[in-house]
Amino acid sequence: MKVISRISAIIIGVLFIALLIICSYSNEFDEGVGVTWKFGAANSTPDTPTHNFNVVPRVLPKDLPIIIWWTENLYPHLDKFDTLSCSSGSNCYVTPHQRYAHHPQTIGFYFYGTEFMPKNLPLPRLQKHIWALAHEESPLNNFALNHAVGMNLFNYTATYHRASDYPITTFSFPGEKFILNRSPVSTSIKNEYQKNQGFAPLIYVQSHCEVPSDRDRYVEELMQYIKVDSYGKCLHNKDLPLDLVAPVENMFSSKFKDLIAKYKFVISFENAICNDYMTEKLFRPLHVGAVPVYRGSPLAREFMPDNHSIIMTEDFESPKALAEFLHQLNENDEAYEKYLEFKKIQKIRNENLRYHLDRRPWEYTEDDKNYGPFFEGFECYVCDKAVEMYENEKKRAQDPSTPPIKPKYTDGRKFACPAPEPFKKPKELDWWFIYDYTEQYWQGLDSARAVRDMLLANESDSSKYSQYLAKYSKRQN
Ligand SMILES: *[C@@H]1O[C@H](CO)[C@@H](O)[C@H](O)[C@H]1NC(C)=O
Ligand SMILES: *[C@@H]1O[C@H](CO)[C@@H](O)[C@H](O)[C@H]1NC(C)=O
Ligand SMILES: *[C@@H]1O[C@H](CO)[C@@H](O)[C@H](O)[C@H]1NC(C)=O
Repeated sequence: MKVISRISAIIIGVLFIALLIICSYSNEFDEGVGVTWKFGAANSTPDTPTHNFNVVPRVLPKDLPIIIWWTENLYPHLDKFDTLSCSSGSNCYVTPHQRYAHHPQTIGFYFYGTEFMPKNLPLPRLQKHIWALAHEESPLNNFALNHAVGMNLFNYTATYHRASDYPITTFSFPGEKFILNRSPVSTSIKNEYQKNQGFAPLIYVQSHCEVPSDRDRYVEELMQYIKVDSYGKCLHNKDLPLDLVAPVENMFSSKFKDLIAKYKFVISFENAICNDYMTEKLFRPLHVGAVPVYRGSPLAREFMPDNHSIIMTEDFESPKALAEFLHQLNENDEAYEKYLEFKKIQKIRNENLRYHLDRRPWEYTEDDKNYGPFFEGFECYVCDKAVEMYENEKKRAQDPSTPPIKPKYTDGRKFACPAPEPFKKPKELDWWFIYDYTEQYWQGLDSARAVRDMLLANESDSSKYSQYLAKYSKRQN
């Protein structure tokens, strides 16, 4: 009896000590104890938890910058807390826990463009805070980022635009082999499909119909002058073969690729029009050896295998003129095959594309369903900068004569996208007026301005966003 109670006393004692240790660790983290240097303004803001997480780190590396994935849905790590070890030698502590926004060690914030919410921002933004934007998605996913003012908010960007610090322009392009390795279906067989199996010269597969680029209105008019097989929900006129099931727009379905390969031309229209926004809609036809008829980034040619591999709608004054050209090309095998020359000579002649492919620090294969590891690459890019800032702040705390790091921010003007416009005047009660992308685009500008104003006012509570926005909404009405 006595022995047992003594053992349990020991166990309780050990547990108590363990608990004390755990508490002191978490306190240390919460209070920033053990950090010998101070950032002035940082400590004046209470560390208000906005989230309750089960996992609290027991050991925080005391001397690493913290970077928060503010838009936590994209947190690309398995664990809630991770020490990021980059090949450059930099290490950062990366976490989705917003409650550490004002921890003295916090230097950086990652935002995923689609989820960037003006009402929930890590304010006040301190001089040392680096805002980093990752966005490979369509410009339509966040109209605030279509404007110079919106992009100016960030210090470092990884977006589809080539002017990014860490450009991911070729994000939907696995690489050179992807374009070159697959042989096209021969032109004579394509001709046979048209003659004997009722194939149209063009294929269209689209199920997202009501989009800012207003692609369907263009295709609809084109269809008046040339036959188009449309398998998706939009302008549907042909059912998929039975062995092909949804989602047909899956880039990786080999049966789907086999179907496109039988066509001479593929209608490849992006959902939004903005410089350098290009998707698998463009790169997939090149892969299977069908010629893309493209509407999207006006600069798309600069990323094609050579200067004669796509047909751009903007080179034609109307869908009718485009159709005439396509008819001619459809009748002339030699002229058609010129568009597939890169497959024959097995070469990417375009130096700009080679440059981008060679320079990008991430790689992926066609089978990699997560696309490239570019977000991880960007994390390290930002971590390098955060370490630099962190070390500089420490030095400055010890020796105020140390010069601060020169601020770096994004020149938003390079990233601006044009306002969405309908392809032609919509009829009354058209879906265009329901979605009103043009209005959304201008609201995006107001929203970006309101965020900028919050920063200029050193606002510490982003839930006051609507007050800042009101100034611009009033002007509009
Ligand atoms: C911004 O606000 C914080 C507190 O919210 C304050 O400590 C800091 O000095 C302010 N910065 C400027 C430049 O006014
Ligand atoms: C297209 O590329 C070919 C071969 O590289 C070159 O001879 C030709 O001048 C180029 N044409 C244009 C319009 O750039
Ligand atoms: C980040 O960008 C903002 C402007 O958008 C700028 O005021 C700030 O100094 C920059 N910070 C750093 C660390 O470069």
